[in-house]
Amino acid sequence: MECHKLSAKPCSSYLFFVILLIFASLASFADAAVHYHDFVIEAKPVKRLCRTHSTITVNGQFPGPTLEVRDGDTLVIKAINRARYNITLHWHGIRQLRNPWADGPEYVTQCPIQPGRSYTYQFTIQNQEGTLWWHAHSRWLRATVYGALIIYPKLGSPYPFPMPKKEIPILLGEWWDRDPMDVLRLALFTGAAPNVSDAFTINGQPGDLYRCSSKETAIFPVEAGETILLRIINSAMNQELFFGVANHKLTVVAVDAAYTKPFTTNVIMIAPGQTTNVLLTADQPSARYYMAAHAYNTANAPFDNTTTTAILEYKSAPCSAKKGQPVKPIFPQLPGFNDTATATAFTAQIKSPSQVKVPIEIDESLFFTVGLGLINCSNPNSPRCQGPNGTRFAASINNVSFVLPRRNSLMQAYYQGQPGIFTADFPPVPPIQFDYTGNVSRGLWQPVKGTKLFKLKFGSTVQIVFQDTSIVTVEDHPMHLHGYQFYVVGSGFGNFDPSNDPAKFNLIDPPQRNTIGTPPGGWVAIRFVADNPGIWLLHCHIDTHLPWGLATAFLVENGVGKLQTVQPPPLDLPPC
Ligand code: C2O
Repeated sequence: MECHKLSAKPCSSYLFFVILLIFASLASFADAAVHYHDFVIEAKPVKRLCRTHSTITVNGQFPGPTLEVRDGDTLVIKAINRARYNITLHWHGIRQLRNPWADGPEYVTQCPIQPGRSYTYQFTIQNQEGTLWWHAHSRWLRATVYGALIIYPKLGSPYPFPMPKKEIPILLGEWWDRDPMDVLRLALFTGAAPNVSDAFTINGQPGDLYRCSSKETAIFPVEAGETILLRIINSAMNQELFFGVANHKLTVVAVDAAYTKPFTTNVIMIAPGQTTNVLLTADQPSARYYMAAHAYNTANAPFDNTTTTAILEYKSAPCSAKKGQPVKPIFPQLPGFNDTATATAFTAQIKSPSQVKVPIEIDESLFFTVGLGLINCSNPNSPRCQGPNGTRFAASINNVSFVLPRRNSLMQAYYQGQPGIFTADFPPVPPIQFDYTGNVSRGLWQPVKGTKLFKLKFGSTVQIVFQDTSIVTVEDHPMHLHGYQFYVVGSGFGNFDPSNDPAKFNLIDPPQRNTIGTPPGGWVAIRFVADNPGIWLLHCHIDTHLPWGLATAFLVENGVGKLQTVQPPPLDLPPC
């Protein structure tokens, strides 16, 4: 058509229409999606290690469903409680900006969802991409109620590494050959440590090395030559783990939904709560290779010393002489259970991809001792005092053993101005200075119970040095902060030295994380800006230590204006 010879008007309006159409379709691509899910929490028979247990699941699945979204999307998840326990769900690592109501820890941001009731978690993913996960956040229900939460980049934005051919979530879990809620109940009654687990699992399966488990071992087929992305999540309750794949190198590209400078390793160490994305290239002879995980144990205490396995299977792997019988997979070499040198060297390699904006001027410099303790009993022979020498186990930060409220959640009490639920006098430093990692006198072993929060001004810059203590035992305590991503600026063994250690901090390219472990008998320093108002739990992600009190919470005040103020609570927020 000879456009110019006709009147200009229809032509330009036609053009305008076409451009409008293009823009409209572009906009719909860029538009964030809203994902609706029902999560029905219910007991289902699950058979592991030769025995069937009535297991709390989501939608009958163990592990639970994988959530897949893009950065910018919104999740609307209706949690329907058809189990016999109170429950809440937590979206581990999601920042939940101004929206603590969707965070989930019981009695912190909400009261639990009672049996027969429901609650809808609604939240938007803002500037986060990578691997996170979700789990129950009430007593020990997360032992079986957990799943992967995968955040892809916005449409059209690529990964900062070559696109992998396949992506596989690897959920490392922990299994008890009894009801985990009973294990906890018994421990909380006796005051002793809970029984260690009977198996570790990969995507819910213990694998070939356990009784009655071979047939269900997870198998991941790969094509020779292709590169795959493993999204590894430590959803185990109480154990840091070493993980490796026989004869294959792993290239770490992200942790806790933050990209890292890629580096290559034979083995990773991953603490409960953490995630690690690794690339693996199938560049070995066509065969079957075990991926395996076992404990990295740092405490002087019993632990589950078993090994979970899955199989990486090249599609062209030869079968053995016996027809139909696949050849035995090759086994990876994992570090020894107490190989702190390997664990430390691995963690030290994790860095942000390039220079990041670490807070330099610090408004709140906090020094938190973290560790175990023992509560003395008036009658040490009591059935309730079965801890060491007739005591009860406890744990604390700065000698405060955190107690959850019962009558209301912290967040609701704060929002409604209800007094008597918590105090905001958490100590910024321990009440007494001592040689934290030396031979600590018995008089310092007993913490004080309390529901104390630490108040932060909106926008303040915060540094926390977590100092492990040797009370009862030194240990790697994976510290998790809800509602935030922080920079890990330094760590070391022994006592933190405030006059010399800060000079060695990495303020250039420290990694961004939501969970970081104290080295056993050492310290780790983090920094963040308190830019998310609300009440945010800080706790050890070892689920034995949380009910013992290894926790506190930050009360981050509102700033000015709507964008710095906590949203109103949803109408269906469960009552206590
Ligand atoms: Cu993944 Cu408070 O937890």
